[in-house]
Amino acid sequence: MDSPLIQLFGIEKSYPAGEDAFFALKGIDLIITRADFVAVMGPSGSGKSTLLNILGLLDFPTGGRYLLEGADVSALRKKEQALLRSRKIGFVFQSFNLLARTSVEENVELPLLYTALSRQERAHRVDWALQLMGMQDKRRNWPSQLSGGQQQRVAIARALVNHPSIILADEPTGNLDSKTSAEIMNFLQKLNEERAITVVLVTHEHDIAAYSKRWIVLSDGLIVEQFSRNGSSEAAP
Ligand SMILES: Nc1ncnc2c1ncn2[C@@H]1O[C@H](COP(=O)(O)OP(=O)(O)OP(=O)(O)O)[C@@H](O)[C@H]1O
Ligand SMILES: [Mg+2]
Repeated sequence: MDSPLIQLFGIEKSYPAGEDAFFALKGIDLIITRADFVAVMGPSGSGKSTLLNILGLLDFPTGGRYLLEGADVSALRKKEQALLRSRKIGFVFQSFNLLARTSVEENVELPLLYTALSRQERAHRVDWALQLMGMQDKRRNWPSQLSGGQQQRVAIARALVNHPSIILADEPTGNLDSKTSAEIMNFLQKLNEERAITVVLVTHEHDIAAYSKRWIVLSDGLIVEQFSRNGSSEAAP
């Protein structure tokens, strides 16, 4: 249990491009420990979402090794990967990704439908997650009846409902005004500090990245800089 939460060794992602291949990731080495809060920055097209999707087992590398809690993820079958994803990882997206004609509580319950939990246990988990995000009053509303910030709080409740050890957030405040963004970032920070949930956050904005403990900068599919709050900084070789 003492291995780092996440270890990436030489992770590559390539796509066929005519005779050649296009490399969205060109060899990423990265270690993320438990309760870390990492911001991934870098220009558009640098590979941030690709990296996050690989971390979240939504996408798979074409080269390199990914160890999650010491276990080689690529050695698992698709079904085992999906199970691991649903148990350990919660996602939050820029566009909230809530189902439209589905109530807030049903949206939050969705990840639990793939587990063996009883109906009563599921209801209990949904209550807990909605309560934590201060959204229990809106449980019977549709997402379209909520503000952007409220929708993102529901999306975070949905991400939390399986008690994940990691939350992956791809520009979670990209569609929100600055006050609501700060509120959402405070929630993520609280989850990180009080529940030791590891957060990996993609953002373009420095004031959003400022909530993190550590920053990595991607450029053209490579990590070109890393900094941490304790002051250490290194440029990649
Ligand atoms: N399915 C695909 N086929 C081919 N190329 C792809 C595919 N998906 C992503 N790419 C390319 O990989 C590169 C990295 O994309 P990615 O979405 O990770 O960038 P990003 O850093 O998240 O950018 P943004 O800030 O605009 O969201 C881009 O050049 C993109 O065009
Ligand atoms: Mg992106």
